[in-house]
Amino acid sequence: MSGIEGDGGAAQGENRDSSFRKRVGFIATCALGGSLVALYAVTGPFIAPALRKICLPFVPATNTQVKNVLSVLQSRSGTLVDIGSGDGRIVIAAARKGFRSVGFELNPWLVWYSRYRAWRQGVHRHTSFYISDLWKVSFSQYSNVIIFGVPQMMEQLEAKLQMELQSSARVVACRFPFPTWTPDHVTGEGIDTVWVYDAKTFKSHASMAKLLNNSGDKNHL
Ligand SMILES: C[S@@+](CC[C@H](N)C(=O)[O-])C[C@H]1O[C@@H](n2cnc3c(N)ncnc32)[C@H](O)[C@@H]1O
Repeated sequence: MSGIEGDGGAAQGENRDSSFRKRVGFIATCALGGSLVALYAVTGPFIAPALRKICLPFVPATNTQVKNVLSVLQSRSGTLVDIGSGDGRIVIAAARKGFRSVGFELNPWLVWYSRYRAWRQGVHRHTSFYISDLWKVSFSQYSNVIIFGVPQMMEQLEAKLQMELQSSARVVACRFPFPTWTPDHVTGEGIDTVWVYDAKTFKSHASMAKLLNNSGDKNHL
């Protein structure tokens, strides 16, 4: 073999090495990029609620909390909504008790998982789960409303529900009560406490307060 042929063979070998390294580098970059995108797609919806103005993270209700919710709905029937329905446990438990149950939830993974759970438990015909922002939905059509929220949102939600709900509705707050409504009933203790508010009570209190305010204004004239 001549020196030139030897040099050519070595150069070809180097070229093959370098193109192999490039291909491995490209595949590794794609794999890393793909993994990061997948990681973001899965974890993003769980982190996003923490970055909103009102931070309402996914914290599932305990079994006792679910039991307490169902116990204060024993005499009730009709439609039920869980505002921020998480993995669907309250909606599914209520559907098993005969309610036509709906969940609104911002995190699409939790909504898909809730639908799967409802199907596994045989209540998919009695449940619906929507990927929605609770502040953009009207709850006027629901006769039973469940919320496991955070204190920072309760005042705003109180005003929204007071405006939207019919007098026959019942609202159940888990773990954190509403700031100005007086509960008709309280059950459980510690983190499993639930507060029950009947719309006819908070609506009549609101009308009374308005009347008193108006008569106060007239007295000042
Ligand atoms: C404390 S968890 C309660 C979950 C469920 N209700 C339970 O009791 O197991 C609150 C849920 O509200 C969801 N969430 C947060 N902000 C929301 C919004 N703006 N609209 C709808 N759901 C929201 C969160 O993703 C989380 O799953």
